[in-house]
Amino acid sequence: MKKLLVCTGGGDCPGLNAVIRGIFKAAKKTKEWEVYGSIEAFNGVMAEPPFIIKLKKSNVGGIHVKGGTILKTTNKGNPLQFPVQDENGDIVFEDRTEALAEKIKSLGFDAVINIGGDGSQKISNALFKLGVPIIGLPKTIDNDLSATDTTFGFQTAVQIATDSFDKLVTTAESHHRVMIMEVMGRDAGWIALHTAIAGGAEVCLIPEIPYDINKVKAKIDSRYEKGRGFVNIVIAEGAKSRGGEVVGSARETVSEHLRLGGVAFQLSHELKAAGCKPEIRETVLGHIQRGGTPMAYDRVLATMFGVKAFELVQEQRFGQMVSFKNNDYTAVSLEEAVKDYNFVDPNGFLVKAAKAMGMSFGD
Ligand code: F6P
Repeated sequence: MKKLLVCTGGGDCPGLNAVIRGIFKAAKKTKEWEVYGSIEAFNGVMAEPPFIIKLKKSNVGGIHVKGGTILKTTNKGNPLQFPVQDENGDIVFEDRTEALAEKIKSLGFDAVINIGGDGSQKISNALFKLGVPIIGLPKTIDNDLSATDTTFGFQTAVQIATDSFDKLVTTAESHHRVMIMEVMGRDAGWIALHTAIAGGAEVCLIPEIPYDINKVKAKIDSRYEKGRGFVNIVIAEGAKSRGGEVVGSARETVSEHLRLGGVAFQLSHELKAAGCKPEIRETVLGHIQRGGTPMAYDRVLATMFGVKAFELVQEQRFGQMVSFKNNDYTAVSLEEAVKDYNFVDPNGFLVKAAKAMGMSFGD
């Protein structure tokens, strides 16, 4: 029997378990492969003894409906930049990919499928260059990878954000308030823009379109002048105010960002300082956007990605990453996959259409 290793790295994302199940089922059907999972990304491989589990019907059956990842995940222990203390006690970063590649080979794996975002796929690419037979599988709720038209988890995140937005609209309307809702997305505005369109927000602030606080205030004033008396704003965590001041992305993790207060609170403060009179309330959705059961669309996409990744293993097309392009499940080289990001085009149709609906981007 040949041995396949699967791991999940970076932030969790609805659909990860559906991918794992897709890979497992496709591999078992051939009766040629045993499938293993490394716990907490590649940390399980490097652990002594290795923390690797065998995937079986009993631990994989039915997991596609569950959020999170049965293999656990982490942002810590990146082998490309592994933190160690030098002789002065300072933290320095070491490249440990060679040791990782050797360990994977010594454990006798014939193939590896690495599920993760841009950081994880950089690791996949480095391992491939060191001779590891590896396939990348993209994952992110942010939808910010240019090598694939979409990623699983994104639709679920947008749905969760939209459900929350809908709830905020009724309370905004009842109290004549300005409601600011902050969503995730790292440095991309996809979750914010889709949520704002789906929910019918009056204002949407995204990193790709730096906003002018006076224009945001003017939009609010015009709504109150017309007697409607409430405004719902969606702001992406990476949003920037005009003038180059970084508002949202000057933080390493969302947890740190939340400790700093979140951009929703910063926007609220800016609006009050600019003379905005109505009452303002802030909501920061945070990790709720990544939790819970994946919606049907993401389960399907994730399952297809899993089956496609195993197909690439069978065809020995290592050094490739699964991709969904032009309505087709395909593959791109890892080298290409890690080159670029996908951001909202400020002049693209989505923004144009949102503006046609009366939405302000504060520009
Ligand atoms: O990349 C997914 C994501 O949820 C981003 O939207 C967000 O900026 C980040 O991960 C949060 O990371 P952490 O869970 O480490 O705080």
